[in-house]
Amino acid sequence: MAAPLLISPSILASDFSRLGDEVRAVEAAGADWIHLDIMDGHFVPNITFGPPVLRSLRPLSNKLFDVHLMITPADPYLAEFAEAGADLITVHAEAGPHLHRSLQTIRHLGKKAGVALNPSTPESAIAYILDMVDLVLVMSVNPGFGGQSFIPESVDKVARIKAMIGDRPIHIEVDGGVTPATAPALVRAGADVLVAGSSVFKGGSAAAYAANIAAIREASAA
Ligand code: DX5
Ligand code: ZN
Repeated sequence: MAAPLLISPSILASDFSRLGDEVRAVEAAGADWIHLDIMDGHFVPNITFGPPVLRSLRPLSNKLFDVHLMITPADPYLAEFAEAGADLITVHAEAGPHLHRSLQTIRHLGKKAGVALNPSTPESAIAYILDMVDLVLVMSVNPGFGGQSFIPESVDKVARIKAMIGDRPIHIEVDGGVTPATAPALVRAGADVLVAGSSVFKGGSAAAYAANIAAIREASAA
């Protein structure tokens, strides 16, 4: 049986002036996880927020905090993100020369470990670390900004990673341009966690978020 589809709304697309309310609203609207995009203006051409914001949101939600680190170096900050309330920490395969060590560190901190691949990075980059991860994140846009167009080649990449994973208990998450139109092919290819920013937060109200999340689920179940 296929794994149940998990929706992880990216709060990058929320109203930052009301961040706590937005997290509560999207949780009430049916989010399974909360996706937090950490950008450093160096690995990606944008800057978001860091551990203090995570720490202040942590008491507001019981959902899994899915922390996507788009920073280099990542290793010096892993312990602080773990302490601030991350449940799952994803590092980019491209972010440093010692991916194996970064994943080991995340596991030693007692957190779930994820590895992310940019659109141009082949899946062979993760061949030797598959037994060290709980999740593979396939970027379906170039990381750095919300609201970009989905890169269609990501679907084949998901299918190839699904085959590599075999029967290991590893989630396949897709991030970037996920909408009710792009989600179904991703789920058919083997994705079981979908990150969605703009397509969840459009409309700006709790009722809109619930309808937006339901639309992604319904399209994917069809
Ligand atoms: C992009 C981020 C995404 C982003 C997705 O670098 O990693 O999580 O928020 O935004 P949408 O869903 O709008 O493409
Ligand atoms: Zn992300």
